Amino acid sequence: MISSMQSSPRSLVILTGAGISAESGINTFRGADGLWENHPVEEVATPEGFERNPQLVYEFYNQRRRELLSDKVKPNAAHTALAKFEHQFDGSFLLVTQNIDNLHERAGSQNLVHMHGEILKMRCRNSHLVFDIREDLVFDTQCRCCRSPGNLRPHIVWFGEIPLHMNKINQALENCDIFVSIGTSGNVYPASGFYQTAKISRAHTVELNLEQTGSSFDEHIYGPASELVPFYFESLLESVEQVE
Ligand code: OAD
Repeated sequence: MISSMQSSPRSLVILTGAGISAESGINTFRGADGLWENHPVEEVATPEGFERNPQLVYEFYNQRRRELLSDKVKPNAAHTALAKFEHQFDGSFLLVTQNIDNLHERAGSQNLVHMHGEILKMRCRNSHLVFDIREDLVFDTQCRCCRSPGNLRPHIVWFGEIPLHMNKINQALENCDIFVSIGTSGNVYPASGFYQTAKISRAHTVELNLEQTGSSFDEHIYGPASELVPFYFESLLESVEQVE
């Protein structure tokens, strides 16, 4: 599977999307029963939607937060395999997730960035300070810095806003030997273009997904993340150890 690698990789960038958390019980965005099938995106995931109806937006993310904090949702074998790989690999490793859940952290991942924000954080619209939140966020929740109601919003990147950590991500993409995309449909820019940036930097690009997405990676492997990810990263670690 990783035979096309010429030498031992020293630097990896991994991109994950909703598919990696699907087997943990969190709906993807674009599948049948996906979140965007049930909700008009412009109402719940744009700054304009929030201005029009903040209560609806608060409730949409409150439901996602409650779901994540329920006993039913736990990291699966794919999250665990990535954390294990990171601890055993002695090259450079950056995990970029589009997911707003905390399943990578719970599995033990460390060098991780949430490019689309985090459901367990809220942000003051005046100061831009970010705070942890586990309970419901409602219009009357008092901001911890300015003490006013109505100033807090979910710390989520909405359509039309700029994703977080882009300098760090681009720098890692420009210097990686392997780029692996896991469980993302490739519908949302700029994440959909990461494999091209990595290719320009001569990285080997790999897609692990349940099904074909239409993006041209060097290698495509299809199946459920809970099976593919442990298998792929265990093989990669073995190949690194053999070369060294
Ligand atoms: P999507 O819902 O667009 O795509 C999920 C992908 O996961 C699809 O390609 C599925 O084939 C794949 N998939 C589903 N189950 C899987 C499994 N068990 N194993 C492996 N793959 C599986 O979700 P994303 O690509 O993550 O942004 O969506 C990107 C962004 O669009 C999200 O971060 C979100 C959304 O708008 C914001 O909210 C800002």
